[in-house]
Amino acid sequence: MPVPFNLAASLDASLQAAATAAGLETPFAAEVRGADPRHGDFQANGVLGYAKARKLNPRTVAQQLVAALPAEVTAAYEVTIAGPGFLNFALRAAGLLAWLQAHARAEQLATGAATTRAGESWIVDYSSPNTAKQMHVGHLRSAVIGEAIARLLAYSGAKVTRDNHIGDWGTQFGKLIWAYKRHVDTTALARDPIEEFERLYKLGNSAAETDIAIMDEARAELVQLQTGKPESLEVWGQINEASLRAFQKVYDQLGIRFDLTLGESFYNDKVARIYAELTQLGLAQESLGALVVFHPEHPRFKEQPFIIRKSDGAANYASTDLATILYRTEVLKSTGMLYVVDKRQGDHFEQLFITVRKWFTAIHQPVPRLEHVDFGTVLGENNKPLKTRDGENIKLKDLLTEACDRAYTLVCDKNPDLPEAEKRAIAEVVGIGSVQYADLAQNRSSDYLFAWDRMISLEGNTAAYLLYAVARIHSIFRKLGFTPGDPATETAASGLETPTELALARKLVKFPEAIQLAASQMRPHFLCLYLYEVAGEFSAFYSADKVAVDDAPVRARRLLLCARTMLILENGLQLLGLRTLARM
Ligand code: ARG
Repeated sequence: MPVPFNLAASLDASLQAAATAAGLETPFAAEVRGADPRHGDFQANGVLGYAKARKLNPRTVAQQLVAALPAEVTAAYEVTIAGPGFLNFALRAAGLLAWLQAHARAEQLATGAATTRAGESWIVDYSSPNTAKQMHVGHLRSAVIGEAIARLLAYSGAKVTRDNHIGDWGTQFGKLIWAYKRHVDTTALARDPIEEFERLYKLGNSAAETDIAIMDEARAELVQLQTGKPESLEVWGQINEASLRAFQKVYDQLGIRFDLTLGESFYNDKVARIYAELTQLGLAQESLGALVVFHPEHPRFKEQPFIIRKSDGAANYASTDLATILYRTEVLKSTGMLYVVDKRQGDHFEQLFITVRKWFTAIHQPVPRLEHVDFGTVLGENNKPLKTRDGENIKLKDLLTEACDRAYTLVCDKNPDLPEAEKRAIAEVVGIGSVQYADLAQNRSSDYLFAWDRMISLEGNTAAYLLYAVARIHSIFRKLGFTPGDPATETAASGLETPTELALARKLVKFPEAIQLAASQMRPHFLCLYLYEVAGEFSAFYSADKVAVDDAPVRARRLLLCARTMLILENGLQLLGLRTLARM
């Protein structure tokens, strides 16, 4: 009998089978969940509702169910019936050891996890900055949370397509191209293209504001671009290319690789069909020169229209997003899309999704699953959106550099004798990881307080604390001269005995549920919290139970616990998008 990967899921299945064997009526839902540790590892509460609905005695039903449980369940768990009819399951030491021995390598964990969402397919739309502008701190959350969710879903067996829906089209290009043609500083452009584009845009903008003739010229530039004049397209193309190169540097630091980068401009020639279809279906109507969609059944959107074509005839964010969904379903054959975007865009996505549901239903197309995976604002220590001293947005690249510099100080304190290059390399992993982790460890829907000291610290639920726990286990193996996960050592392990060994093992076997919870709710903080608890149990174990003892079977089981803690921490951190270290 192979040891199941997800113990809760397998227990649920066993109870379901036992219910059939015991002659219970369908539907019966076992409702297995993690239990308060005082009552064991898992709890099944389904008997209560089942018995109540049928006016049966729940304890009797519970007894019937327990009697029908297969032998491998009673071998792995101590089963008790509590209170009016709850079932409690406490893993026996042998059950814990069996799970740990069976999951020795990253591939075994991955294979186990990959069944959860097999067959699902998702496009994850994240990062998606606007070109010709720096990525600033506001772009951090989408990139970091989006990547973690993409990894969690892929790990759970879903097919994931990462799509960077960049904002590479819009009215700002008129002023920018106007200024570019007249005032570009080629040296500055070569040094830092985006900085130069930002300077040019500001220049064009203020020139157009003060001089009506310039405003007209800028408008003419925009029309030339929109009508596809090759010379304008050429300048526009250069701006986007340089922007993407700069974005890529940030993505490399964050470990992000997109499968697709289909910006708003890609949908330029696809919006006309949207106007036609939605008008023909009676969903869209003209209002004050614009094309709009109202939702009469909705408390707000019955009056607040979804504008899908501006009164000057130009496409907008809504038209391109509608065309994007059509393209993703028709051409990319996608059945699910996630939008990892600031919650302030909530109305836009709600209107978008309602519109698509009506539209696809009307044309008898399956409606894709659409979800706005929202997140709160990054706040400074004054509780206001994070800005520089002079009120500017903090550039993402400066923020990441500062993180590495601050982490360097921490590394030098901790380990002053390491070679300089190694200290720098470690600081990069700790610095970037700290920024990612601080963001992920919060419930994404809340605003998030950006505080350097708390973020880059060895104390608390931080990246440095977890990375250090991993590095420490690596050093244990180096010192003792053992290889983590070595089967010859691990099969010699004796049964787990001490309270700290058992507590750590109980935490480790819950890895599958932590992943499942984080992936199903698309909330990586559940995984962060789990990893933090694992590291805490490991600390308690390591200070209570000596690993390097002479008794070989005892040493073997403790080495096994060390190796599995390391495996799960490393795997978990990598799923969140962090890199890990063997030395820190
Ligand atoms: N470019 C947009 C912004 O910076 C985000 C795009 C999100 N994706 C989408 N399909 N609307 O706000």
